[in-house]
Amino acid sequence: MPEFDEKSITAAVIARMSECKDARFKQVMTSLITHLHDFVREVRLTEEEWMQAIQFLTETGQACTDRRQEFILLSDTLGVSILVITLNHPAENGTAESTVLGPFYWEGAPELPRGSNLAEGVKGEPTFYSGRVLSADGRPLPDAVLDIWSGDGEGNYDMQLGEEVGMKARGKIRTDEQGRYWFRSIRPTFYPVPTDGPVGRMLRKMGRHPYRPGHIHMIVSAPGHASVTTHLFVAGSEYLDSDAVFGMKESLVARFDRHEPGVAPTGERMTTPFYTVEYDFRLRPLTTSAAA
Ligand code: BEZ
Ligand code: FE
Repeated sequence: MPEFDEKSITAAVIARMSECKDARFKQVMTSLITHLHDFVREVRLTEEEWMQAIQFLTETGQACTDRRQEFILLSDTLGVSILVITLNHPAENGTAESTVLGPFYWEGAPELPRGSNLAEGVKGEPTFYSGRVLSADGRPLPDAVLDIWSGDGEGNYDMQLGEEVGMKARGKIRTDEQGRYWFRSIRPTFYPVPTDGPVGRMLRKMGRHPYRPGHIHMIVSAPGHASVTTHLFVAGSEYLDSDAVFGMKESLVARFDRHEPGVAPTGERMTTPFYTVEYDFRLRPLTTSAAA
């Protein structure tokens, strides 16, 4: 009968995968088991702590619904999401950097004409966004689509305001022949990630704040190019240097210029102060085999 001590148990568990046919799965599981066992040995995990961890993961699963993904939030706040994204989307040749998707993406936002106000009836300071979508070499990309979403000027996403609210501050905008886009929305403010579940408890216990700096989300896609899931961060926003999900990237910080009431870039007359932002997104062309 084989018996294992606190060292030999690791090799024994790995050896049980000798029949595993999937080489990549085996590699991932071998590393996971090795690190997990090393972690348990390193901190000399007590039985009570191990049960607490199992209870925590159970509650994380139980907190998930079709509108809430507590496991992704856990991955985000532990920096795992951004680590995976950064490994798989290295910044190269000035192409737009990727960052976290977050839990508030809602597939199926309507495509709206360029210049539309995405945030009709949404609280917040009016902001006119514009720029171009370009290929890595600077060639403008017509027919690129920006799938855009943000919270309101008080930091709340439509999904958090109740079932009956429906889509707010969302929409798709397509670029014109010169690769240009423009639309109106609001200037997003900083806000906390959801803290009423197990991840919130974990953050409090860690002595961490739950805030993300002000940002607007977009997935930018264009024919023959790799799509980018990204944000524009509001320059000067609080928490830029301590984003709760580690998603802030310098290259995604955009200047929001404030204007006194007057004529906006879309020609509309504004009776309140407003902001303008300009940002160009460069996309990486797909290689011929990847595009096929
Ligand atoms: C967000 O930006 O919407 C977000 C990202 C990660 C966790 C929570 C919220
Ligand atoms: Fe967000």
